Amino acid sequence: AFDVRIASSGRTYTIPAGRTVVQVLADHGVDVPVSCEQGVCGTCLTRVLDGVPEHHDLYQTEEEQAANDQFTPCCSRAKSALLVLDL
Ligand code: FES
Repeated sequence: AFDVRIASSGRTYTIPAGRTVVQVLADHGVDVPVSCEQGVCGTCLTRVLDGVPEHHDLYQTEEEQAANDQFTPCCSRAKSALLVLDL
């Protein structure tokens, strides 16, 4: 599990194994637009302000993934204990 913090509200949510960031945020009324939910389309691409994502998308280039300043919360996770998202 890892935590995500929403920058605008300061709220932090725990993402357990087996659930996606998008799913957990939706449970709490934070809606991220999605389409493919498989890391292909880029619709859900979200800026990461702090922390290190674990990318599982096919949308970004290797260079974009390595910058670690955005990720696809429909399928990607975190290497760090916390991600701060620009939402
Ligand atoms: Fe398509 Fe996340 S919804 S990449």
